[in-house]
Amino acid sequence: MKKTILTGLRPTGNLHLGHYFGAGKNWVKLQDDYNFYLEIADVQALTDNFNNPEKVRVNVFEITKDLLAIGLDPKKVHFFIQSKIPEVAELTVFYSNLVTVSRLERNPTVKNEIAQKKELFGNNGESITYGFLGYPVSQAADITAFDGELVPVGDDQLPLLEQCREIVRKFNSIYGEVLKEPEQYLSNVSRVRGLDGNEKMGKSLGNAIYLIDDEETIKNKVMNAVTDPNKIKKDDPADPEVCMVYYYHKLVNNNQENLNTVCNECKAGARGCVQCKKELIEKMNEFLKPIQEKRKYYDENPEEVVKILEDGTNTAREKAKEQMAKVRKAMKIDY
Ligand code: TRP
Repeated sequence: MKKTILTGLRPTGNLHLGHYFGAGKNWVKLQDDYNFYLEIADVQALTDNFNNPEKVRVNVFEITKDLLAIGLDPKKVHFFIQSKIPEVAELTVFYSNLVTVSRLERNPTVKNEIAQKKELFGNNGESITYGFLGYPVSQAADITAFDGELVPVGDDQLPLLEQCREIVRKFNSIYGEVLKEPEQYLSNVSRVRGLDGNEKMGKSLGNAIYLIDDEETIKNKVMNAVTDPNKIKKDDPADPEVCMVYYYHKLVNNNQENLNTVCNECKAGARGCVQCKKELIEKMNEFLKPIQEKRKYYDENPEEVVKILEDGTNTAREKAKEQMAKVRKAMKIDY
């Protein structure tokens, strides 16, 4: 019996290299060995985009196409839409009795997000909705509705997983051993830095390269990437380890010999940054080409994408129904 993996994404924008190297690439490897549920978390996306439903709707399809383009195989992965699984909403309601408001307010991920919102929108506590504060409860339902055992997520999501585990323990202690406590699937993939040298690549930070970026866009972005600030003239020696151009060379260039050349020439002052960027643009386009070709296929065949989501959602729904029956029985509401 294969173990069940469950993970999710909020459909709020296209995938960028941070998503790919920080998560997606690893998911592609996992799909062979696990029973893999992949949730397009539109309900969760609405918690802070409730006034922009069109954005969420468009990105359900955008993100699914991006995920297919990187090589996730719909024969192996159940792609499903959160809002099409009413059991998730139902479980959320029942779990909401098992968690206190103060516990949610203390959740580090939620706390961080609230702090970010305050930074963006001013010190307006009232902008935090009940739905937003409660999304960790909903995420616990996401995982347990499908008996998720392993959850491959980054460290920023760990407090949400811990919250889920607490809910599971509480549920089991009151209603009997029904739910499994999920664990983080640890992998050695790490966060990808932005073109500007920021520790994180993100849409709101404006420092991301998207999988769908065309050649012109890539060129403009790479040409503006941060290099060693101490290198003034073309033939000054520089430190590749502080240069984002070298950093991206390492990500997208598999040719070790070529990488060594880039590194050594940089240190020796034997390569100018403009030349180095041009080479990176070429490598970046080479890297993205197969992904974009695959993506193009799905752009041209949108009905296939719809079918993939329908099939995955049906499979997921069956699983959630089974799970819900157990939960209802344990809670003595199986009338
Ligand atoms: N909160 C996750 C994120 O913002 C997305 C998500 C929704 C998720 N449901 C999930 C992740 C269930 C893991 C498991 O990236």
